[in-house]
Amino acid sequence: MNLERISRIAGLLLGFGAFAFATGACAETTLKIFVTSQGQPGIWRTVLDQYEARNPGVKVAIELGGATSDLQAQYLNTVLTAKDSSLDVLMLDVIRPAQFAAAGWTSPIASENMSSYLRAYAEANTVDGKVVALPAFADSMFLYYRKDLLDKYGLQPPTTWDELAAAAKKIADGEQNPSLQGLSFQGKAIEGAVCTFLVPYWSQGKVVVKDGKFDFDREAAAKSLALWKNFADSGVAKKNIAEVATDDTRKEFQAGNVVFAVNWAYAWAMTQGADSAVVGKVGVARLPAVTGGEQATCLGGWEWGVSAFSKHQEEAKKLVEYLSSPEVSKIMAIKGSLLPTYGKLYKDADVIKAVPWFADAQPIVETAKPRPVTPRYNEVSEAIRTTVNAVLAGVTTPADGAAQIEARLKRILR
Ligand code: GLC
Repeated sequence: MNLERISRIAGLLLGFGAFAFATGACAETTLKIFVTSQGQPGIWRTVLDQYEARNPGVKVAIELGGATSDLQAQYLNTVLTAKDSSLDVLMLDVIRPAQFAAAGWTSPIASENMSSYLRAYAEANTVDGKVVALPAFADSMFLYYRKDLLDKYGLQPPTTWDELAAAAKKIADGEQNPSLQGLSFQGKAIEGAVCTFLVPYWSQGKVVVKDGKFDFDREAAAKSLALWKNFADSGVAKKNIAEVATDDTRKEFQAGNVVFAVNWAYAWAMTQGADSAVVGKVGVARLPAVTGGEQATCLGGWEWGVSAFSKHQEEAKKLVEYLSSPEVSKIMAIKGSLLPTYGKLYKDADVIKAVPWFADAQPIVETAKPRPVTPRYNEVSEAIRTTVNAVLAGVTTPADGAAQIEARLKRILR
């Protein structure tokens, strides 16, 4: 090949490169999405790989937040207050879309028909008539229990906390195993401890907000705090329960060291893994009631928002629509035991085969109670979770704790 020919070919190639660049054929967008570590990032990666394969030119990178919902929120607060554009899509705990929308941190997602989602999630993501985020997965707190041990002692899953204490005692007496805890729940000052407080409070038929007004029952609050403190004092729960966060409960239950555990749906998939000591020994039921009360649980779940500061608004919205689709919801249910936000998936044969107890979970999710919805939710959370923790650590009495929660919430929610 002579020199002239080589330079002609090189020129052609350069020209083609410039054309391709100008028309965007070579352009690549990388979207960065913030995912909760509790939401099983490895499994989200598989659905993102599928998205990338279907959308040439789009890459999606995952950024992980802190270990708990409150730490993740703290991080996002810092990033978004600085109007940082590095995150495009945000996975938000169900308690946050209202706050993020009020702060102007998420972009509305127009023209989305929310009627196919479970109602609680359609509502949590709609603020002043605008859709501000789309559901990722549903959630609520359940009672995990050791089916093998309950069977061994002829016990049924408890429907009251008193029955649970009696069952735990019977099993402890029989097993004589000092490393076996009767009950594990969340006593650390994390977001989950807000639900720890609210579950027995609601079970007594009480509310925090009624017709938009603060409505608190201090006696019921003290009873809720005392219930948890008594579990620790009587040895049903371990003494340092004030240090236990959600994933500690999951790990200890999975290691075979816990009879009853309060936890969210994600824990199930992990108890079924190769490194679990309890495969085939786990049952899941409604959380028990306070004696004489109703069984109540806390509504959880996570949502996908588009950062208002993202430089890729359209691409980010398209990705969020995919992540919130029935297709992805089904994959996450099967692989990660994350509860679907679509009612029809609770009857899906593949989902029920993978997670048999999902067949009975829809009415539990549908009657789960939401934590107070307010743009000032961070303050509500802080008031409750730090007090729950102080009571369990023995720093505050249940009666004083109830008075403190009342005084602080009154200022925030009035
Ligand atoms: C779960 C729930 C979420 C809740 C959190 C508390 O992830 O889905 O709503 O706030 O646990 O630990």
